[in-house]
Amino acid sequence: MADLEAVLDEAGVTNPKVREFVKEYAELTGAERVEVVNASDDARLLEEAVAAGELEMAGAGRYYSRSYHKDTARSEERTIVATSDEKDRGVYNNWRPASEMKPMLHDRMRGASAGKTMYVIPYLMAPAGNALAPWAAGVELTDTRTVVLHMIRMARVGVQFVNDLDDPDSFVRAVHVTGDLEHLGQGTADDQRYFVTVADERTILHFGSSYGGNALLGKIAHGLRQGAYDGWASRKFLAEQYMLIGIHDKETGKTWHVCGGFPSASGKTNLAMMAAPDALGDRYHVSFYGDDIAWLWVDEESGRLMGMNPEYGVFGVAKDTNETTNPNALASIGEETRAIFTNVAHNPTTGEVWWEGKTPKPPTDVHGWLDWTGAPLADRKSDDSAAWAHPNSRFTTTLDNVPNIASDYDEPVGVPIDAIIFGGRTRDREPLIRAITDLAEGVYDGLTLGAEATFAAEGVDGQLRYDPMSNRPFMAYGEGDYARHYLDVVGAATEQPIFAHVNWFQRDPDDGHFLWPGYRDNLRPLLWLLQLKAGEVEGRRTAVGILPTEEELNLEGVDITPHDLERILTIDHERWRQEMGFREEHLSQFDRMPEEIWEAHRRVAADLDAED
Ligand code: GTP
Ligand code: MN
Ligand code: MN
Repeated sequence: MADLEAVLDEAGVTNPKVREFVKEYAELTGAERVEVVNASDDARLLEEAVAAGELEMAGAGRYYSRSYHKDTARSEERTIVATSDEKDRGVYNNWRPASEMKPMLHDRMRGASAGKTMYVIPYLMAPAGNALAPWAAGVELTDTRTVVLHMIRMARVGVQFVNDLDDPDSFVRAVHVTGDLEHLGQGTADDQRYFVTVADERTILHFGSSYGGNALLGKIAHGLRQGAYDGWASRKFLAEQYMLIGIHDKETGKTWHVCGGFPSASGKTNLAMMAAPDALGDRYHVSFYGDDIAWLWVDEESGRLMGMNPEYGVFGVAKDTNETTNPNALASIGEETRAIFTNVAHNPTTGEVWWEGKTPKPPTDVHGWLDWTGAPLADRKSDDSAAWAHPNSRFTTTLDNVPNIASDYDEPVGVPIDAIIFGGRTRDREPLIRAITDLAEGVYDGLTLGAEATFAAEGVDGQLRYDPMSNRPFMAYGEGDYARHYLDVVGAATEQPIFAHVNWFQRDPDDGHFLWPGYRDNLRPLLWLLQLKAGEVEGRRTAVGILPTEEELNLEGVDITPHDLERILTIDHERWRQEMGFREEHLSQFDRMPEEIWEAHRRVAADLDAED
């Protein structure tokens, strides 16, 4: 491509290392043109995408996209962390040698963007000027325009973020090549897809998907996997699948910051977008910093544990988002927000979109409506009850569209962390909240976080699918080393955060209803946790942490029976003793698990035995 130098000059790309990187992959992938992207190109790119049929209108100033029907979610089995040191092999990171994976990915990418445009997306996964900004710059190359439009929403995008680096080489090289989606054998023995982070070379090579979770490389691959590896290699920070919120008490003027990890589809976005329940809204306000990723570090001057959201937007689950469960989410995707919907049901004539749980029933007049695959709903047989929207259908919107966005979300300093919470989807065993005041026990608890894999996990034999710190799909190096690093980073802070395990999903064993109303009412156990940290309540000590008493929990206006309340505020000893056996097996898989973690495990086990 003779005019590549001219394109880069014209776009003002002055970093010589970025120029080399772009040239290398333009040649490899055989792209026909190269275009450098800034956030200000959004309106033009939207127009082009609509003209090309890649996006459709979904009402005024909103957009609709449909992904290939075999390309609708992250693929954990095809996701690999590669390095040159086998010591980086963990149980969950699918480690492979870099020397094997790089040539394999290069082979797949060779010539695969022929005839296409290669977009160059310089980005920063941090507020500009943040202490972790040296690890946050990257350049994504992609051959798909809708990926560019998503990246502009999810990350800070612009040439300035890679031109002014102190070390011109210190950006993540992220390459996304879509490939021929109709011939990649997705999910078969001959699956051609590979999503590889070559972590010790800060290079991300993703081939074979244009779905957000696989293709937005700033978000998942850099923001989580590469960030985690860099945080460990530098001994400086943690990169976690955490939401991050502020809780403001208007009466005392105090603000706390809570972050926490729940496995995918377990309520992070909903918690971060929370509107305080009516009975508490006069006094408390919840502000949104982040809903999916937080990077944590210790501030050198104050010694405080700090957190920030490296993202710039929200990629939220659509299912069950409605005026009752999440009014802020609906407001953030209203008209003129430039939100993009993916794989929901769409009516191209009216521009309307619909997903399961948006309203109690789907639109009665199906005329004009298409399901997420594009099939007309009017043609459906009356007994066809398939979902209109894909269960993993999503909306993408920028942080400044979120009504409860924190006023200081873009400030480089970040916010001090008062509490770290873990939560899974557990139908029994886990109470509403249990607080943990000891660091090693908190980390131990995070490492044994689990969620129900399927409904088959019902009953006493049910084993959780463990998802340490909600990072199982994003683990970048060995779990024992990860635990050590977590203890070191948080342990270095002058003021220790309080930990807690929460569960919004406990069910009645007989009829299966959720015992706790959840959503906006989840503020209540969090307020109790902060009161506990401040010494204003005492709770009730158990082997697995401190639980609130009924009197301590503010239940004004909550719809819950005394029977259900009792269940979510007590622990089931038999279930927990069984759980300790599962935990021991789970932790035994990992190399170099710190002794502090084993001590915490033995302490909890002994306390459980002593409680009977
Ligand atoms: P990822 O974006 O995939 O990482 O997931 P997430 O953790 O952000 O999950 P999200 O907030 O999107 O919630 C997933 C599902 O759980 C949605 O269908 C929600 O409606 C549901 N959900 C969230 N909070 C609650 C709650 O408090 N109670 C109940 N019953 N359901 C909830
Ligand atoms: Mn997530
Ligand atoms: Mn989410």
